[in-house]
This record gives sequence, structure tokens and C-alpha cells, in this order.
Amino acid sequence: MAHVQGHYKAIAQEYDFFYDHMYEELAEISCKWLKLLPTDSLADIGGGTGAISSLIWKKANLGQPVLVVDPSPDMLEPASKREGVLTLEATFDDLINSYPHIISKYNKFVCIGCIHLFPHLEASMAAFYKLLKPGDQLLIVEHPEVLVWKDLKTRFNSLDEIEEYLKQAGFSVEERGEESHSHSYSREKYFYSLRHRCYTALSLLTDKEIELGIKKLDETVFKGEPFKELTDYYYMIVATKT
Ligand SMILES: C[S@@+](CC[C@H](N)C(=O)[O-])C[C@H]1O[C@@H](n2cnc3c(N)ncnc32)[C@H](O)[C@@H]1O
Repeated sequence: MAHVQGHYKAIAQEYDFFYDHMYEELAEISCKWLKLLPTDSLADIGGGTGAISSLIWKKANLGQPVLVVDPSPDMLEPASKREGVLTLEATFDDLINSYPHIISKYNKFVCIGCIHLFPHLEASMAAFYKLLKPGDQLLIVEHPEVLVWKDLKTRFNSLDEIEEYLKQAGFSVEERGEESHSHSYSREKYFYSLRHRCYTALSLLTDKEIELGIKKLDETVFKGEPFKELTDYYYMIVATKT
């Protein structure tokens, strides 16, 4: 997974610029799906720059800071300065193997746009499940496809696949579904983001392949217009330790 580490090192400084239009919505739906109460303690695994965690902390009026767990020091750099956020530099596997005492302090967990990056998902989920207390909950949010870049394969093609991993680990799946959010995308900003490999999957493409994809997007979607209303979709799934 060296390309994942290199990818986040390369894009960390611009990450919030690429994605900030999604943050309010992602924070809102995370609070809703996890039914967060001020007394809950939340850890955000693969929490990156911590922007969403800080918004969740404010929106849910949480009594304690959100723990942002992420292996990338560059992504965590802005997180450490945000209100309502604590940081831990660790992968999901490091968290399970080296910090079980930290896991036990939290009752709600969220993973936004990152389980597809976990190298041993099946084994990690099973080990994570064992460390939780009955009633603890994990919300997974995954982007089903790279927006209008449908040729790129994503790791999960359906909610069933994610549910299967969770059930195999022992979780009971309480609720699942989709959320969507429309946003006016700037052509200039979106193409800039694609050229700078805003999605992990793009880091495996050559410049030529990126340019071909952008050309296709321009012809079929933006049609040369400076702005385009596009919809982002999110898979949502809440798993509970029984
Ligand atoms: C697409 S970003 C999502 C960041 C944040 N959750 C958000 O939605 O803005 C994926 C994050 O997962 C982190 N990551 C990569 N591999 C990981 C692993 N094995 N365990 C935990 N986090 C990982 C990356 O460093 C990156 O910050």
C-alpha cells in the first residue's frame, strides 16, 4: 500500500481545497446515521485532515473531542489544530494491535471514504469487532463510484459487499442505505483536482489517461460550461457490536 501513503503525502496540502464542498453534508449525515448524542465518544478512523470530525463535534455538541486516527502525518497536520479534535498517527491495524485501551474509551466509530484503502479488511474488521463493547457502533461511509469517472474500478460495487465484510466480522447491520448531495462543480477546479489526483484511484493512471478522461468529461458532462450541478452519492451502513 506504498502508493496510498505516497498519494496522501502528495495531496495532503490541497486535500481540503479538493473536498471542502462535501464536508458539511458528510458531517450532517454522519451525526444523523450514528444518532450522535453529546454523551457519545467518537473516533474517526482514516479521519484525514479532521475537518469533518471537527464539524461533527460542533454539530453533535459532543462533550469530548473526536479522535482522528490516520497514518499520514501530512493529512493529520491540519487536524491537530482544529477545534474538538485529538489526533493519533496510526493505521486501522496499528489502532487494533497497539492501542486497544484507546478503542475501549470510545463507543462510536466512523470511517468515511477509507475502508477501501485498508489492506486486510476482513481480518482487521474481525479483530476490531472483538475489541468493542456490546452496543458500540461503526458507521461506514463509502463513495460508490468516482464521480462521472465511471471507467475507474472502485473496491466496492454494492452495499451488500460492505455488509458481508461486517457480518463476517460478527457485526449486526442495523441500518443501510444511500445519501446523495448535489453541488455546483466548477469545471476549472474539478479538472485541476483530477489532474492533481484528488482520488486515490487516479494515482495509478498516467498523465495521458487522466487527460483522456478529462476530455471525455468535458465533452459529455461539462460541455465547456464553467459550472455544472452534479450529484455525489454515498453508501451508508451502521454496524453494531452485539
Ligand atoms: C479519502 S481520505 C478520507 C479522509 C476523511 N475521512 C474525509 O472523508 O475527508 C482517506 C484517508 O484514509 C487514510 N488511510 C489510508 N490507509 C489507511 C489505513 N490503513 N488505516 C487508516 N487510515 C488510512 C489516508 O491517510 C487518508 O487520510
